[in-house]
Formats: sequence, structure tokens, C-alpha cells
Amino acid sequence: MEHTKHIWRAAFLLIAVLTFVIVGRHFLVPKSFGQAGYYRYDALFEHMDKEPRHGAPDACADCHDDIAAAKASGKHAPVQCEVCHDVLSSHIKDGDKFADMRINRNWELCAYCHQRLVGRPALIAQVDIREHLELASGQAIPAEACVQCHDKDAIHHP
Ligand code: HEC
Ligand code: HEC
Ligand code: HEC
Ligand code: HEC
Repeated sequence: MEHTKHIWRAAFLLIAVLTFVIVGRHFLVPKSFGQAGYYRYDALFEHMDKEPRHGAPDACADCHDDIAAAKASGKHAPVQCEVCHDVLSSHIKDGDKFADMRINRNWELCAYCHQRLVGRPALIAQVDIREHLELASGQAIPAEACVQCHDKDAIHHP
């Protein structure tokens, strides 16, 4: 009997570890985990309860029908208003305006799509920004450079 003592010790240790893992798992794994796959099922409902931040593609047209109509017949037709401005929920709550919508007049907005890049599809008009602005070398790009010539009507209906 003297010789089996170390085996009992090992067995006891193993059982202690297993008990710790099984009990610990019971408390640590979230309730709905695994109910419909390898994820927490309740997370779906938490996301569904959140207010949507973006509007439908024609959400702005409800109140800005003139700008929406101009845009729809111009080259920026495929660019959603929210891309250049901000999400609907930053401006409208319960169907009414509660805060100003962002107006981004920075040239970097335009450069994001129109700066000449080797890998950019040719179907998007591209300019070398510094050349287009006829800047002298070393001269910084003025923040609101593009809207000086491409004004709001030209931007909404290029
Ligand atoms: C390609 C980017 C772009 C898109 C797309 C765009 N806007 Fe604009 N918008 C601008 C910029 C830039 C200005 C500021 C122009 C300026 O100051 O000359 C502006 C100005 C405005 C203004 C202020 C006009 C004023 O009279 O002061 C409103 C309102 C507006 N946009 C609404 C919209 C709506 C609604 C849509 C979608 C139908 C839209 N915009 C789509 C870039 C965009
Ligand atoms: C429920 C009506 C409503 C909707 C929907 C709406 N707006 Fe407006 N918006 C207004 C009102 C009212 C003003 C202030 C008067 C004005 O300039 O026509 C305004 C003003 C603006 C301005 C000028 C800055 C400011 O806040 O005063 C911009 C830019 C603008 N809206 C963009 C948008 C864009 C982009 C969308 C869609 C994502 C949108 N709006 C959706 C009602 C609306
Ligand atoms: C999200 C991408 C995007 C942004 C941001 C954007 N544009 Fe555009 N723009 C387009 C697309 C797409 C077209 C249509 C394809 C084309 O003609 O290049 C276009 C067309 C144009 C055209 C007409 C080009 C032509 O073919 O004659 C001008 C001018 C223009 N944009 C200027 C601007 C200015 C100025 C800004 C910044 C206020 C701006 N764009 C912001 C995507 C964008
Ligand atoms: C000094 C005036 C002026 C300024 C500032 C200016 N543009 Fe232009 N841009 C023009 C003119 C003029 C045209 C040619 C006529 C047109 O397509 O509207 C043009 C054309 C374009 C085109 C179409 C090019 C093509 O190949 O069809 C794009 C894109 C453009 N500009 C983007 C910009 C961007 C981005 C900025 C800011 C970095 C900017 N522009 C600043 C005057 C200007």
C-alpha cells in the first residue's frame, strides 16, 4: 500500500483540476453561448435593439429634395450623402433635426476619391492635387482649397 501513495496523490490532483475547470466554466461561459453556434446568441438581440446610425439611401431626400434631385442627375449620383457629410443619426432624432449636420470642406475629403493613384480605376476622374491647384513647390495645400472653385452646387451636381 505504501507504494501506491504517489498514484493517489496524482489522481487527487487530476480530480481537483477537473472540478475547477468544470465549475469555473459553468460561471465563465455566458448563458446563451453555443445555443445556435459557436457564439453568444444573446449578442444578436443586443445589436438588434440598437438605434440604426445610417439612414436609407434616400433618407436625406425627405427634407432636402432639391439637393437630392440635383445630385441624382449629376456625376456624384452614386456617392451617398452620408459619405461626404455624416450619418443620419448625428442630425435627425425622432424625425426632426436636433443637431447640425457636419459639412466637411477639407480638400482631403475630395482627395480620398479624386487624388491620382496608379491603382485607382480610370472611371473615376483623378487629378494631381498640387498640379491642379498650381501650387509652388513647398506651398501647403489650403484646407478648403477645393470648395473655392467647386462650390456646393458644383459638388452636389458635378
Ligand atoms: C461629394 C461630396 C458630397 C455629397 C455626396 C453631398 N454633399 Fe452636401 N456638401 C458637400 C460639401 C463639400 C459642402 C460645402 C460646400 C461649400 O461650402 O461650398 C456641402 C454642403 C451641403 C449643404 C449646405 C448647403 C448650404 O446652402 O450651405 C447641405 C444642406 C448639403 N450639403 C446636403 C447634402 C445632401 C442632402 C446630400 C445628398 C442628397 C449631399 N449634401 C451630398 C459635399 C457633399
Ligand atoms: C427630417 C428632415 C431632415 C432630414 C431627414 C435631413 N435633414 Fe438636413 N437639415 C434639415 C433642416 C430643417 C436643416 C436646417 C435648414 C436647412 O438648411 O434647410 C438641415 C440642414 C442640413 C445641413 C446644413 C447644416 C445644418 O445642419 O444646418 C446639412 C449639411 C444637411 N442638413 C445634410 C443632411 C444630410 C446629409 C441628410 C441625410 C443623411 C439630412 N440632412 C437629412 C432637415 C433634415
Ligand atoms: C466617395 C468618393 C467621392 C468623393 C468623396 C468625392 N467624389 Fe467627386 N466623384 C466621385 C465619383 C464616383 C464621380 C463620378 C465618376 C467621375 O466622373 O469621376 C465623381 C465626379 C466628380 C467630378 C466630375 C468629374 C468629371 O468626370 O467631369 C468632379 C469635378 C468631382 N467629382 C469633384 C469632387 C470634389 C470637389 C469633391 C470634394 C468636395 C469630391 N468630388 C468628392 C466620387 C467622389
Ligand atoms: C482654381 C479653381 C479650382 C480649384 C481650386 C480646384 N479645381 Fe478642380 N477643376 C477646376 C476646373 C476649371 C475643372 C475643369 C472643369 C470641370 O470639370 O469642372 C476642374 C476639374 C476637376 C476634376 C475633374 C477632372 C477630370 O479629369 O475631368 C476633378 C476630379 C477636380 N477638379 C477635383 C478637384 C479637387 C480634389 C480640388 C481640391 C484639391 C480641386 N479640384 C480644386 C477648377 C478648380
